[in-house]
Amino acid sequence: MTTQPLRFLRRGQTTTLHNVPPDRTLLQVLREDLGACGTKEGCGEGDCGACTVVLAEPHSDKPGTLRYRAINSCIRLAHSIDGMALWTVEDIAPTLGIGVSSLHPAQEAMVQCHGSQCGFCTPGFVMSLFGMYQNSTCQGQPISRTDAQEALSGNLCRCTGYRPILDAAQAMEHLPAVRIDEATVLQQLELLALTAPAQSADFSYKSPRTLAELTAARAAYPQAQIVAGCTDVGLWVTKMHKHFDSVLDVTQVDELRQTIAHADYLQIGAAVTLHDAYTALVASRPQLHSFASRFAGLPVRNSGTLGGNVANGSPIGDSMPLLMALGATVVLASQRGERELPLEKLYTGYRQNVMAADEVLAWIKVPHAGAEFMRVYKISKRFDDDISAICLALSLTTVDGIVTAASIGVGGVAATPVRAVQTQTALVGQPWSLATAHAAAAALRAEFQPISDMRASAAYRSEVMGNLLQRFWLESQGETQINLATFDVEACA
Ligand code: FES
Ligand code: FES
Repeated sequence: MTTQPLRFLRRGQTTTLHNVPPDRTLLQVLREDLGACGTKEGCGEGDCGACTVVLAEPHSDKPGTLRYRAINSCIRLAHSIDGMALWTVEDIAPTLGIGVSSLHPAQEAMVQCHGSQCGFCTPGFVMSLFGMYQNSTCQGQPISRTDAQEALSGNLCRCTGYRPILDAAQAMEHLPAVRIDEATVLQQLELLALTAPAQSADFSYKSPRTLAELTAARAAYPQAQIVAGCTDVGLWVTKMHKHFDSVLDVTQVDELRQTIAHADYLQIGAAVTLHDAYTALVASRPQLHSFASRFAGLPVRNSGTLGGNVANGSPIGDSMPLLMALGATVVLASQRGERELPLEKLYTGYRQNVMAADEVLAWIKVPHAGAEFMRVYKISKRFDDDISAICLALSLTTVDGIVTAASIGVGGVAATPVRAVQTQTALVGQPWSLATAHAAAAALRAEFQPISDMRASAAYRSEVMGNLLQRFWLESQGETQINLATFDVEACA
């Protein structure tokens, strides 16, 4: 098959690369093809942030401006940035004249605050800072400590310690400003789009622009590997050394990049990034904020999509327990039409689902918040940037002290994300009391037989699952002291 040319904007110029294999990562292209070795490889799996670069596209909500996203280049397929603007750590220093450049505030602040020791993590931190600078400082928004912690949650440093780096994040706004000429970049991106070569019928990397094109490509290439952000499939490439002859990328499909608020539900396109999807969910359910910010680090949430997380169906994926508890449905699309089903009906076994070979996941529909009491808990070894050992989402409606509806999603206890049907049944019709909470915790422990693995033992998972239900009871009674979301680590330091 022919590989279409890969074209993106870097340093004000169009970079055009030919014969880039469909499964080549952006990091490989940068370091091995372009010699841009400032971007480092640490883990190769989206955990450490050493490979962070920044992408920009026209901002769909603010016409005439750019939307910047820090992403992990190690697990991003190179072809997925076609038509975008890219900055690496080598590209951000302002040029003062021929051969002379100064430092960008993201770099200067790291120097002034002593934010680097061995320096291996530094390019990644600088690029996360650069993304923050573009999205906050350049918009006149100060960066709070919390903002900095969240934006840097995908960058690990083994030797400097985080305080100086967080200081650097907040120091950037006090340094001489450096601005990107967005009008010019937008013009160049427009030109790039206008001069894009027509897609031939047999490209090995297909990136359709409409749902009709996507379903046609899915029907024509059922063997193609679908990617929707690639934050998991990227690991199949870097860790399992899998090769894909053909890749179908859903992230540029217009209809799937939108979140639409209907009268009764929020319709989230499968290609909406995890960051944007969770921002929309948190807007009406602020209690989800802490959970949302713990879904990997920001660079993963900037590439990964809600649809990718759902379609992938990992039993330890964080979105599905939450979406099940919220009563979400999914819409599958093909050239034959669309069908809608409850999320829990999507899965048939470990990473198996009911989707036919010509179907794609198009939308996730989430009912709007009502009067229910809702919480979601993630238990992992690390607070930030880690995978759940167990995830429990609960939604309870009571009328006059009696449980009238219960919706519970669980991750990490079975081969798929699951709904705790028996526990839900045990709750409905009961008075919402400590005794009922204890009985429900016992029912929950009895309902699943989790396995032991490197994240937790079966006994621990079982014990914690019930304990979380008791915590849910306490929080429903106004007890919040035990809530990590309100625990201020720095205040205790
Ligand atoms: Fe660690 Fe990419 S190399 S996140
Ligand atoms: Fe050494 Fe961060 S400065 S890993």
